Amino acid sequence: MNREISLIGIGQTKFGEWWERSLRDLLAEAILKTLDSSPCTPLDIDAVIVANMLGEWTDDQAHLGALTASLLPHHPPALRVEAACASGSVALYTACALLESQRAQTVLVVGAEKMTNASGDAIQVALMGAADSEHDQPCGLTFAGIFALIAQRYLHDYGLTREDLSIVSAVHHRNAKGNPFAQFRQEITVEAVSESPLVADPLRLLDCSPVSDGAAACILSTKFKSPLRIRASQVSTDTLSLTERTEITSFQSTKAAVERAFAEAEITRDDVRALETHDCFSIAALVNLEDLGFAEPGRGIEIYKKIFEEDEYPFFLNRSGGLKACGHPVAATGVKQVLDVAKELQTAKLRFGLAHNIGGAGATCGMHILEYTNA
Ligand code: COA
Repeated sequence: MNREISLIGIGQTKFGEWWERSLRDLLAEAILKTLDSSPCTPLDIDAVIVANMLGEWTDDQAHLGALTASLLPHHPPALRVEAACASGSVALYTACALLESQRAQTVLVVGAEKMTNASGDAIQVALMGAADSEHDQPCGLTFAGIFALIAQRYLHDYGLTREDLSIVSAVHHRNAKGNPFAQFRQEITVEAVSESPLVADPLRLLDCSPVSDGAAACILSTKFKSPLRIRASQVSTDTLSLTERTEITSFQSTKAAVERAFAEAEITRDDVRALETHDCFSIAALVNLEDLGFAEPGRGIEIYKKIFEEDEYPFFLNRSGGLKACGHPVAATGVKQVLDVAKELQTAKLRFGLAHNIGGAGATCGMHILEYTNA
């Protein structure tokens, strides 16, 4: 980064099913909590970046930049970004660009989604807007279907079993027990995952992140200081359509972003002590660990097995509960991951953490490295 960017405030709603609350209401709660946790006043906010994917579908609401800015007293410049499930990290990236270019000194970033307003079927259709409308959508795929194809190929190539996938969800649910913001805080057994209703073979209900409502926000600043710094902010992309990829058990966007992020932060993989990675489906967590370079292809499961059987963490891995147990209000997730990494670094006095957020089947990848300078 060519400027010292501090993370000076964080706040979020609990993720879950918020039937009685509006998108505006969720945005307002996250923003208020974030301002309360920061040293600045609302008038210090120079710009607002809002991440949202589905506002038009779920709330008949576009123009979320102005809507969100109107929650502040002085109507600062505001814009909305959309990159499917990576919207949150792309919003953070946009904020970093404003700060690095000195267009702004203090930026509020908020990601929000209100998914339960729409029926389950309508949400599946809306989410498929993140896939290629000419090549992939016409097959009748859903995102569970896309990740099921990836899982089928992966299990075949690397000889994993259905039970292996179940371990991933069991670990994430166990991690969420202590997270008051998580949608599901109960432990689940490996057997419960393997026996849960089939969604898209081999993926079952408990392999899937749920449909969720929620908002998460933070304030980044070059003017106000904090011991939490953004050391890298990267976004990379890949083909939207799976049909144009040479392989589907690995996401090139993650591989590109992580190399750039380590170079930008001037650290190595071994320095990362906390990782929040995008487990939209159990199989994604394994693919991600390998693309990020924490495991060889086909061997990400060994890390999960070690955590599950010995409660031994080589580094904090989705300690929040990940998308599986925390919930996945899509555009809020990338922001929430950065909040979780920040909390993990502060609580355990660790120095570096990485937040890894993907959109669609890895067509966009957003990545942030945080440093806790008091570690
Ligand atoms: N994990 C744990 N529990 C879940 C769950 C999940 N993913 N999804 C639903 N549940 C629970 C519900 O709370 C409900 O429990 P209850 O009966 O005690 O209230 C029960 O399972 C049935 O829920 P329901 O909403 O009827 O499930 P559904 O069949 O409509 O939806 C999925 C289940 C998996 C299809 C849906 O959560 C889904 O599509 N997830 C993926 C979302 C997605 O694609 N996101 C983008 C990623 S790229």
